[in-house]
Amino acid sequence: MSMFHLTFAIWGLLSVSCFIVVVCASWCPYQIFQQSNQRFQQKTDKFWVFSEQTETWVEAKLPYDLLSCVNGDCRKVGSILQTDKKSTQEVLELKHKLDEQKRSVENKDSKLEAEDVVLPQRKRISLSKISETSVWITGESGSIYERFWNGMEWVIVPHDLPVSAGSAISIFVINQTILALSEAGKLYQIRVQLGESSQPIWVEFTPTDPEKNLLMKSGVASRDEQRAYFCTKNGSLVELAWVEPSRWINHGQPAGANVAAIADASSTREVVYTISSAGDLYEYDRKSKPSWKRHIWHERTAQAAPLMPSKGCSLPGLSDDHSESLFLLTKEGTLVERKLHQRKWKWVVHGRPQDQNLTCITPALQDESSETSSISLFFTTSFGSVFEYQIVKQLGLVPNNQFPGAWKSHQHPLHAKAARGIAGLQLYIGRILFPLNDGRIAELHPLGQGGESSGPSQPQNIRRKASTKYVWSILDVPESEGWNAEYCTNERGLRNCLTGIKDESEESVISLVTGRRKQSQTQNHYLSVGTSGGGRLIQSSEEYNTPDDWIISNFRLRLMDLGKSFFLITDDGLIFEYISIESAWIWLKHESSTAMKGILSNYNGSLFMVDAYGSLLLRERSGKELAWRNCTAVRKGRNVIGGQPWDGLPGQERKVTTEDTLFFVSKTGRLMKLMVSLKKLKWKDCRNPPDAKVACIVDQELFRKNIVFVIGINGRLYQYNKVTDLWHEHYHSQHLVLSQFSGTVIRPSLKTLSGSLFMLSREGGLVEYQWSSLYGWNWVEHGTPNRGVTLVGSTGPSFEGNQLFLIGSDGKVYLRYMDKMAWKWKDCGFPYVGNKLVEAHRHGGFQKEKVDCIDEDSASYLKKDQGNFGDLSIKCDSKVASTRPIPFSEGSVLFELRDGRLAEIQLVGKREWVWSRIIGTPASLCLENYWTTVAYNLS
Ligand SMILES: *[C@@H]1O[C@H](CO)[C@@H](O)[C@H](O)[C@H]1NC(C)=O
Ligand SMILES: *[C@@H]1O[C@H](CO)[C@@H](O)[C@H](O)[C@H]1NC(C)=O
Ligand SMILES: *[C@@H]1O[C@H](CO)[C@@H](O)[C@H](O)[C@H]1NC(C)=O
Ligand SMILES: *[C@@H]1O[C@H](CO)[C@@H](O)[C@H](O)[C@H]1NC(C)=O
Ligand SMILES: *[C@@H]1O[C@H](CO)[C@@H](O)[C@H](O)[C@H]1NC(C)=O
Repeated sequence: MSMFHLTFAIWGLLSVSCFIVVVCASWCPYQIFQQSNQRFQQKTDKFWVFSEQTETWVEAKLPYDLLSCVNGDCRKVGSILQTDKKSTQEVLELKHKLDEQKRSVENKDSKLEAEDVVLPQRKRISLSKISETSVWITGESGSIYERFWNGMEWVIVPHDLPVSAGSAISIFVINQTILALSEAGKLYQIRVQLGESSQPIWVEFTPTDPEKNLLMKSGVASRDEQRAYFCTKNGSLVELAWVEPSRWINHGQPAGANVAAIADASSTREVVYTISSAGDLYEYDRKSKPSWKRHIWHERTAQAAPLMPSKGCSLPGLSDDHSESLFLLTKEGTLVERKLHQRKWKWVVHGRPQDQNLTCITPALQDESSETSSISLFFTTSFGSVFEYQIVKQLGLVPNNQFPGAWKSHQHPLHAKAARGIAGLQLYIGRILFPLNDGRIAELHPLGQGGESSGPSQPQNIRRKASTKYVWSILDVPESEGWNAEYCTNERGLRNCLTGIKDESEESVISLVTGRRKQSQTQNHYLSVGTSGGGRLIQSSEEYNTPDDWIISNFRLRLMDLGKSFFLITDDGLIFEYISIESAWIWLKHESSTAMKGILSNYNGSLFMVDAYGSLLLRERSGKELAWRNCTAVRKGRNVIGGQPWDGLPGQERKVTTEDTLFFVSKTGRLMKLMVSLKKLKWKDCRNPPDAKVACIVDQELFRKNIVFVIGINGRLYQYNKVTDLWHEHYHSQHLVLSQFSGTVIRPSLKTLSGSLFMLSREGGLVEYQWSSLYGWNWVEHGTPNRGVTLVGSTGPSFEGNQLFLIGSDGKVYLRYMDKMAWKWKDCGFPYVGNKLVEAHRHGGFQKEKVDCIDEDSASYLKKDQGNFGDLSIKCDSKVASTRPIPFSEGSVLFELRDGRLAEIQLVGKREWVWSRIIGTPASLCLENYWTTVAYNLS
């Protein structure tokens, strides 16, 4: 018996009388040795044993028993086992398993509200593969964008139709020409325009024959992509052959039926299968007479009827080389097959997963290299889950209805459902894109292969195996759909539209981009909220009541014309406009039949006001007169309590389009949309998040197009997506409760989507919700300017992407500003200079003694004078009230003072904010300046 010595210190316990020598190869110092139960974490498989026979170290073969030998009596005291070799793959799988566990827990939580909801049918979403590196997508908003692999990254290239063409609904490639179909039924062709810019543009596709007035509903390209077949809006089949010169062939419709959809045009039989709106299958074969044939079904296969007018999928050679199978769905959502086998047609019913209705078919690419003799079809159910159905080839002899457990559920991505009724797109073998109900795209791919940062796959890279684990990755889409993907750029760099270039300096950025956000983090910011009620927070939400003066303190002031005029509502409900006429400032009184509460919006020169009864009243110009219109009296109108805080971003002209909408909060806590362009008023009830009523609008579309951010009555942040009509909750800690006041958007540059939404917490601290393409969404808590001072009212205007005005509980104005990449507080005090300002104003100039906000001395200056403040007038209090301030010009802000007067703070030079004037108002209690407040009536 050879003797060994155990010398390694950590195993000292064993070493007392052992003769085993084990030396650790690496990492040993980090091993965790738990005294209590004598377990350690083994991190290596390399151990050496000293052999006394050969007097050399030899590598121990694992498992290795540790023996304790005392006087020749050897007993096993332990063993070194092989560690679990966790390859990257296994680590990923483990992670996936945890994710799945988490998901199932979360699903259980949300089961009641979100699981089994029949999704709405999206109208415009489609995916088309143009090449291995390019997918063209029509979004629910009707825009067209391309996901293009530029060699480094997937970038988003915009390809929208001209505004006059309206929304796009699908894309085709015929003879290497890209065509877009508009919702109106017209085709457009993309052309590269020679000349000034070589940007491709869309031109209307006008074939040179009499059929050109046909309007198309849908279409499919033939297998060889040389022809396309369209189903017209009035139900006939037309063929587009030759792109240059194009030629239309009208095949009409089958006798006694129409063409509601083209099921397939890629059959090897060279026929076109169509489905009528009654749900019958027809085929059009131009080589046979008659050309139209109906595929009837018999009573005993009644389950196969009626069919859903939608795209099917034909597969050749499933039963034998000459067979053909056409897979279709019934109106009820069952999978059926029309099979041609040994010259005989028959119907086969494949059924559906339990309790699920199938809504569309996504064929999988056939893996030529694969040894498996099966092929998969994927289905999206009406609840937004994805199922895979495996069809084993050569099934010819299996009797009808006997398909062993072939349905496999892939569920759906976390917090997102697949879009109902819209086929996915297999990009590469094993990697399938599915449009999501929320407008984004998800990729279903094998673990570790695919996802946002993964480029085009070589076919041999992915073999479908039964054991392959599939996971979902969510791919972001552009702002046109209310999401966060930025368009590619013309500048050199990673996100170039044509070729991504990696600069050495950007190396770290790449790893951040690809490794950090784009992996799976994004989806967790957005929590889906179901459509039914009964949420977790609704109880607490009822506790908080809006104070009576909520509307007036948020919407008392509204800018009308930058630097020229603004409106004021008094506590008595009177409307005044402060306007400069021939360089004199005067107050104009606007007459109304009811007392006003606030001004909720300024759109294209018209004001939307709310009166004491909650009616939304529009003050507009009508010819030369000013007129009132009662928006609440319009069909579906409501009483409202709030609207959007700002009418635009500072320094940014708001474009007026023909599709503009404004959002309001109804008295019952619902978000209401009002179509306002061209003075056609039309309401839509956008409801409220299922677990909370809407307390206020934080931002409408200044931060993100098509997104309205709101705070629920429970103090949580939600968003409403105008395109998809969906509510999402934004994740934040349970400890953060937001105050029910509007917010302020800061966007350093309008070229990127990066920016922040500033809000106040219920404790009166400043809270920032920030988006950057690198890190996604992040919450930043800025706290309060001083101990003992909280922030009141709502956040004020912002300037230059780095300055934000706030009001303290001490009646002072605070500036939060960015200085050398760090946020700082500045105390701007309040305009305490008694009536000096007013005097100065009377003589047409500004006061000389400026209170310089940036100057440190200003605070002491204010303190010094504070003593005799009370003496001036009982009714005067120049501390700042919590009324939401408004910007008045490019570099000035108006605040309301506690005595009812207004004060303007102005930017002087680059960074100096100075109280520049006090404006007496007709409602001010501080009477010294009544002279300015005699108002001119304007009815
Ligand atoms: C469909 O509409 C076109 C154009 O309006 C018309 O020429 C054609 O006759 C219509 N076809 C049917 C079947 O109604
Ligand atoms: C494809 O288009 C080219 C010109 O763009 C044309 O010359 C060719 O004939 C077309 N082929 C078919 C099959 O339509
Ligand atoms: C599914 O189809 C059945 C009929 O087979 C129908 O009764 C049911 O309402 C459908 N369910 C959904 C969610 O569409
Ligand atoms: C506006 O319309 C509502 C609903 O018809 C009505 O109750 C309200 O009195 C109207 N207000 C005014 C000022 O006309
Ligand atoms: C904006 O206002 C102008 C002038 O009143 C009007 O002619 C125009 O139609 C308005 N635009 C929209 C989109 O409402």
